[in-house]
Amino acid sequence: MILVTGATGNAGGALVRTLAGAGEPVRALVRREVDLPADLHLGDLNDPESVAGALGGVRGVFLLSGYDRMDETLAAVSRAGVEHVVLLSASAAEAADLGNPISKYHVESEALVRESGVPWTILRPRTFMSNTLRWADQIRAGNVVRDTFPGVAVATVDPLDIAAVAAASLLEKGRHDGQVYGLTGPEALRPADRVRILGAALGRELRFEGLTDAEAREQLLAGMPEAYAEVFLGFFARGELDESVVLPTVEQVTGRPPRTFEEWAAASTEAFRQS
Ligand SMILES: NC(=O)c1ccc[n+]([C@@H]2O[C@H](COP(=O)([O-])OP(=O)(O)OC[C@H]3O[C@@H](n4cnc5c(N)ncnc54)[C@H](OP(=O)(O)O)[C@@H]3O)[C@@H](O)[C@H]2O)c1
Repeated sequence: MILVTGATGNAGGALVRTLAGAGEPVRALVRREVDLPADLHLGDLNDPESVAGALGGVRGVFLLSGYDRMDETLAAVSRAGVEHVVLLSASAAEAADLGNPISKYHVESEALVRESGVPWTILRPRTFMSNTLRWADQIRAGNVVRDTFPGVAVATVDPLDIAAVAAASLLEKGRHDGQVYGLTGPEALRPADRVRILGAALGRELRFEGLTDAEAREQLLAGMPEAYAEVFLGFFARGELDESVVLPTVEQVTGRPPRTFEEWAAASTEAFRQS
């Protein structure tokens, strides 16, 4: 049995379906009743006791980064005799300045996992292809997508590939212990490239308009605390994080190339369709 946290999200949801498809029993830690091919356990990652209650019969745990009292959660995981933990960290753990709040919580979570005594694998995905879903309202409303950081190319990764690497790490006993896997897709794309590819998948001529850095700051501030907005401006407007390099990891672990943005777009058209 594998316990998947974040099971209603992009990465965790893909992992639940991947494991279930492979015939592996899955328990999902969820905050509400949902429809998933898994044994549901109501709990909260900020509440280690609730995670501990989900660990009966569990041999592997997929854990999200950055929650409260993670040392207590990991102590419970160790006590329960879990054989392997996969931590979903991020490339932010490789940033030049690790003092920013996002890098900090990933680095601290990674350290706790390394110190837990439970065999581990750390995943550091680049920006998810599924973040493109935030364009859905604009694409339903018209043919122009306006967004931040027009000049920044990112080797975005499909959550299905994160799930494939996580599943391999959890199921192939011993093979991925102590590995830190940077995960990318097969090519670095700018937002305008992704808009064009999405347009082709939808049979529409979509156009991208980049926001200035001042407009980007305003947009980020509308959706997150100022400290986090500053981190993203640092990463992408001031170039403090490079997510453009394509890494061989997905292919090395899964034996097949990473999924393309074309494949993600073709599988995701429903989310962008005008009614
Ligand atoms: N998106 C990216 O580009 C990116 C890149 C690198 C790393 N990451 C890392 O990957 C993580 C997951 O990304 P995602 O796109 O899959 O996120 P997502 O789709 O927003 O999913 C987040 C998941 O976490 C769950 N969750 C949130 N707070 C929780 C809590 N207190 N207790 C238990 N579950 C909780 C949510 O459950 P509910 O449905 O109950 O809210 C949801 O299942 C991010 O948090 C980040 O650390 C993301």
